[in-house]
Amino acid sequence: MIYEIEITLRTIRREGLGSLFKKLGTYFHQLFCGAVFLCQRLPRNAKPQELVDFSFHAAGGLLQPAQVRSEIVQLAELVRQRQPKTIVEIGTAQGGTLFLWCRLTHPEATIVSIDLPGGIHGGGYPFWKTFLYKTFAQTEQKLFLIRANSQSPDTAKKLLSILGDTTVRFRNPVNIDVFRCLVMGEWMEVE
Ligand SMILES: C[S@@+](CC[C@H](N)C(=O)[O-])C[C@H]1O[C@@H](n2cnc3c(N)ncnc32)[C@H](O)[C@@H]1O
Repeated sequence: MIYEIEITLRTIRREGLGSLFKKLGTYFHQLFCGAVFLCQRLPRNAKPQELVDFSFHAAGGLLQPAQVRSEIVQLAELVRQRQPKTIVEIGTAQGGTLFLWCRLTHPEATIVSIDLPGGIHGGGYPFWKTFLYKTFAQTEQKLFLIRANSQSPDTAKKLLSILGDTTVRFRNPVNIDVFRCLVMGEWMEVE
């Protein structure tokens, strides 16, 4: 909620009322799409490719991943094959990739997705979307949504309290942020 108030004030200050009304239009449109999404049946036992297509197109593109389709299909296939029991994602954004991890990973996996409200590239998401994202998890999965800066020591502590002594492999440059904050949290070694 604080995020929404901050964004409203920042928009009025920097861009004026016209821009605020435009953003409000988008916000309510997304709320409507969210309601549509909740009425849809989530695909079960679908192939990675089908799930990727669903994530791009469901509810008017509400979850659309910020990814190249062919690349995310490959990664989704890898996740399906390896069935990791722990996933940490930096950058929840619209929730498209989070949806894939929940559907393709181990049915008892622990999944953590972190995003910074007001983050770069128009990132972050409004509070109401946490309810939507929670519906992605399978019955026995544990899904944690952290709306905070991945580089902050507080986020590291939160992540540590969730993961305990589980080791997470870091795969791309964005994740270096978490690597750094976990180093601040004096936690882990990375190969
Ligand atoms: C490229 S998007 C994520 C894409 C998403 N996984 C997908 O495929 O749809 C990058 C996201 O990282 C988030 N982000 C950027 N810096 C961050 C930080 N320091 N801590 C947490 N999230 C951050 C942004 O808010 C944005 O939502």
